[in-house]
Amino acid sequence: MKSVSDLIYLLGGTNKVANYLNIKPSAVSNWKKKNIIPKNKQKLIKDLCLIHKTNIYENLFTENSNNTHNNVLLIISGGVASYKSIEIIRLIKKTKINLDIIITKSAQKFITPLLVTSLNEKKCYTDLFSIEDEAEMNHISLARKADIILIAPATANLIAKMANGIADDLASTTILASLAKIIIAPSMNPVMWNSSVTRDNCKKLVDRGVVFIEPETGDMACGEHGVGRLPEPKFIFDELINELNTKKEFKNNRLKDITVIITAGPTEEDIDPVRFVSNKSSGKQAYAIASELSDRGADVTLITGPTRTSLPLNLKVIEVRTADEMYQTTMSNLPADVVICAAAVADWKLTPNIDESNYFDLKNKIKKTEKSISFKTIQNPDILLSVSKGKLKPKLTIGFAAETKDLIKNAKEKLITKDVDLIIANDVSNNKVFGSDFNKVYIIDKYKCEEWVKQSKKSVAINLANKINEYFTLKSGFLNK
Ligand code: CTP
Repeated sequence: MKSVSDLIYLLGGTNKVANYLNIKPSAVSNWKKKNIIPKNKQKLIKDLCLIHKTNIYENLFTENSNNTHNNVLLIISGGVASYKSIEIIRLIKKTKINLDIIITKSAQKFITPLLVTSLNEKKCYTDLFSIEDEAEMNHISLARKADIILIAPATANLIAKMANGIADDLASTTILASLAKIIIAPSMNPVMWNSSVTRDNCKKLVDRGVVFIEPETGDMACGEHGVGRLPEPKFIFDELINELNTKKEFKNNRLKDITVIITAGPTEEDIDPVRFVSNKSSGKQAYAIASELSDRGADVTLITGPTRTSLPLNLKVIEVRTADEMYQTTMSNLPADVVICAAAVADWKLTPNIDESNYFDLKNKIKKTEKSISFKTIQNPDILLSVSKGKLKPKLTIGFAAETKDLIKNAKEKLITKDVDLIIANDVSNNKVFGSDFNKVYIIDKYKCEEWVKQSKKSVAINLANKINEYFTLKSGFLNK
């Protein structure tokens, strides 16, 4: 989701925009707060966008207008993370989305119906058997009215009820009675999230078309560390907006049944039986792309190195460890219509230099009592290059360029040397991208370099899926001069 703040930032900041339009900076700050640009200034801003060659203007205004008639039902279930739903309500209230809210009994232990009602400026619903609610809006009306149901946070209990058709309170009954798209943002203890029963329940829901906003890794309120934390409200809000917008984009879908291979995550290169070298890739961007393409009907195979990010549930995943394994698995899964190499593949394997004075038995752990150790590097196969130069070259090959300097120059070089159709370039200096939920990318082909505003990785995935869809729509390709 692009915001007015993003746009102003791209146009040089509040003062610059105010200067250009000959208005006070406070007026521009106000637009940012309200996320609206007044009608009489839209033409000037559009001109400014043309000067700055930014393409987010159209999206910005389409998004605002698209949201006018969307009905969202937010279900807040109980857990420490329930408090984050307050910020989600606040963000939704800034749009024209029509919001109804259900709070479960356990959520009411953390937030009150009064607070939610005053924020949403209308009654929130709590009881299945309330005479008052039944007269105003019963569970069937709530279920029918919603275009999208967002459950944030979703507890393991509510997920289990949904997976098994249990309807014993207002939230679970409304969900069961609804035909709307459902988005779930789970939050729970890491052991509960990873338990096989929760995995099975989630899998059932994914198979039924429920969209998951995967929990994040971090410190939990219970004192444990792991996957299970509710993502930040802004991230969940952006996902909601993306889903609302995507409903429209699916109309000319050409991604149904195309085959896609995506490499993801880091690789690990062993030094001895207990040590390895690797890198900081989280796999988040690649997983988001894989999920998005799969949601649109593509037959996706995700080949991933080891990450701490939850694996997408709605597609075929092959887990590998080393660059050699990733290479073998990718090549043996060809042919595919599209190959996207997003993995941060280790460029080298390391092996200790061995000579007469220094002998290492590589089957055993290297001891620290060894006199000195130096390593020689052995280059790993370049998967992307092998795919694009190989006999089974896909219709569309996409690579990434993760750079710490000379971003565009290096990315353009990779486009040519690796013979790919599209390079997605991002600046990875100062830990800007690895592990983050947001990404700032440049999309480079033979003819042009598009700058995309900083956005969530999910949003990058949606925009990239649109681009791939465009490629298969135009057949001759999207590489327009
Ligand atoms: N890539 C690959 N196999 C490799 C190395 C890279 O498939 N052994 C792919 C990556 O997945 C990415 C692209 O090539 O799509 C560029 O990767 P990057 O790490 O940015 O560049 P390298 O080719 O490794 O070159 P350098 O590290 O020198 O920048």
